[in-house]
Order: sequence, then structure tokens, then C-alpha cells
Amino acid sequence: MTSSYVILLVLTFAAHKLLVGFVLGAAAWATVRALRGGDDPVAYASRDWLPFALGAAITAGVAPLLLIQVLYQHRVYTATLLLSHRFMAIVPALIAGFYLLYLAKTERVAAWPRLRRAAVTGTALAAFLFVAWTWIEEHTLAAASPEVWVAHYRDQALVHRDVTIAQRLVVWLGLAAAAFATGAGWLARGVSERDRRGLARVGLAGLVVAAAGAALLASGDPDDVPAVGMPYLVVAAVGLVAAAAGFVMWHAGVARARALATTGVVVLYVAVSALREARRVHRIEWRPTLEGAQGFPLFLAFVVIAVVVIVWCARLVSRNVR
Ligand code: HEM
Repeated sequence: MTSSYVILLVLTFAAHKLLVGFVLGAAAWATVRALRGGDDPVAYASRDWLPFALGAAITAGVAPLLLIQVLYQHRVYTATLLLSHRFMAIVPALIAGFYLLYLAKTERVAAWPRLRRAAVTGTALAAFLFVAWTWIEEHTLAAASPEVWVAHYRDQALVHRDVTIAQRLVVWLGLAAAAFATGAGWLARGVSERDRRGLARVGLAGLVVAAAGAALLASGDPDDVPAVGMPYLVVAAVGLVAAAAGFVMWHAGVARARALATTGVVVLYVAVSALREARRVHRIEWRPTLEGAQGFPLFLAFVVIAVVVIVWCARLVSRNVR
């Protein structure tokens, strides 16, 4: 039973990370485009899809949020309570970011001068970076020792400082660039050769940054990757190489290279999420009462209900749009 929760956590978390990765990359591309002036199909598709992608990313965060509470209850609750308002600040940040993404799609904003247009998506981007930082901070504090929690509480600190937070963010930003490059490659229509090459370069650079960040993170960590995590490390390496090869071939204009890059990125995301979980399970204790926990059939029943309702809504919308 426990392992099924872990598998669900890995898969749902990988989906969440892929979507937030796209959101961040799309907001960055739209901001840079606005700063340079003019428009391009990638920036247009980014602005067009961003509100939906953010909604999907946030929704995809709910499942892993529930699962980490089931699996690591006392640690997640402790870290959240200790970070207090600092953690809850992600809510207004997300609301502001959401609104700005809708604003960026309006004709009114399209007529604004460069700097003001860039400020709209740029401020949303800053809000999402703040949310990413906060989640990593929460994750790091939850995995810390009780002594760290005591010191945090005693000092009435609102911010948890740890050198690995920035390193994790670097890994995640690199992965985000790769997720965006593949996502935008599928969504944008009429992309020029120049922009296609630009996307491939963004994806490749993202992989290099992610690999460098991971090496930095691993070098400062006294714990080796646990034996159970080794297969995921190997799969992650395979995904990385496949994605890199895909981006290089895509840059050169090879047909189907985009599909290879996308497959590599998805494999990489799932493997990294599995490796991350293998390390956590290895390092910290389970919630002791987990084996007595109930409700999995009920959870599955609600999954089915949710899927049916979503399909129904989608059909309703598509019928009425037509
Ligand atoms: C734009 C908005 C968001 C961004 C950029 C973002 C980014 C991130 C990042 C970078 C991590 C990785 C933490 C790590 O590996 O150390 C993460 C983890 C996570 N996020 Fe998000 N997130 C966003 C919104 C949300 C929302 C709204 C939810 C909940 C509904 C959520 C739920 C989670 C969960 C459950 C984790 C895993 C924490 C853990 O395993 O300890 N995220 N997020």
C-alpha cells in the first residue's frame, strides 16, 4: 500500500513539475520578446497558453500535496507551520501572477510600449520564481532535523536558509527550460527557423544547467545515492542524453527530433522525481501510522468521478464553442 502512494506521488509530482516548468519558461520567453520589441509565434503561443498552463500546473500540485501529507505528515505540517506567513505568501503571489497572465493576453496590453508589456509578464515571472523558491524552502525544512526546527522556532525566523535551496532551484530552472522548449515546440504555429533553433538552444542550455546544478548539489551532500535510487539515476542519464540528442537534431532541422526531445524530457522528469523520492524515503522516517491508514478505494473512486466530470466539462465546452 505504501509503495502505491509513493508511485502516485512520483508520477503526479513529475506532472506538476513539467507544467510549472512550462509556465516559467513561457513567462520568461514572453518577457524577453516584449523587451526586444515586436512579437513572434512562440511568444504569442506562450501568452495564449499561459493562463491555462498555470491552472493545470496548480491543479497538478494538489495530488502530490495530498500524498506528501499522507506519507510524511508530521514533517510537512511542521515545516508549513514554522514557515507560517512566509509560506502562505504564495497564495497572493499566485493570484497576482494569474491575473497578470490574463492581462498579458489583452489587446490593450498588446498596444502598450515595450517596457510596460515586459513588466506584465516579468512581474508574473517573478511571482512564480518566488513560489518555486518557497516550495523548495518548505521541502528542505521538512527534511531537516528536529534541532533545526527548534532553532527556527526559537529565533522566530520566517525564512529557512540552506545552501542547497539555491542549488535545487538551479536544477529546477534548467529542467524548466527543457520542458518549455518541448512544450512550446508543439504548441506554437508557424515558427520560423530562427525561433525553432532558439527553442532547441534553450532546451539544450537548460539540460546543461540542470546537470551542472545536480552535480553541485551532489558534491555538497555527504549521503550517497541509496542503492534503491541507482536505477533511477541511470534512467535519468538516459533521458538526459536522449533529450540532448533530440535538441541537437531539432536544431539541425531533423524531422521527428522534437518527438525524441520530448520523450527524453518526460523520461528525465519522471526519473528525477523517482530519484528525489528514493532519497527522501531513505533519509527520513515514514509517518508511523501509515500502515493503518485507510481510504485508498475511496480515493480511487474520486479519481474516476473527477475524470468523468472533467471529460464531461470538456465536451460541454467544445460543443458550445463550435
Ligand atoms: C507557479 C506556481 C508553482 C511553482 C513555480 C512551483 C514550483 C515547485 C518546485 C520548484 C517544487 C520542487 C521542490 C523541490 O524539489 O525541492 C515544487 C514542489 C511541490 N509543489 Fe509546486 N509550484 C507551484 C505551485 C504549486 C501549488 C499551487 C501547489 C499545491 C496545490 C504545489 C504543490 C507542490 C508540492 C506538493 C510539491 C512537492 C513538495 C515536496 O515533495 O516536499 N505547487 N513546486
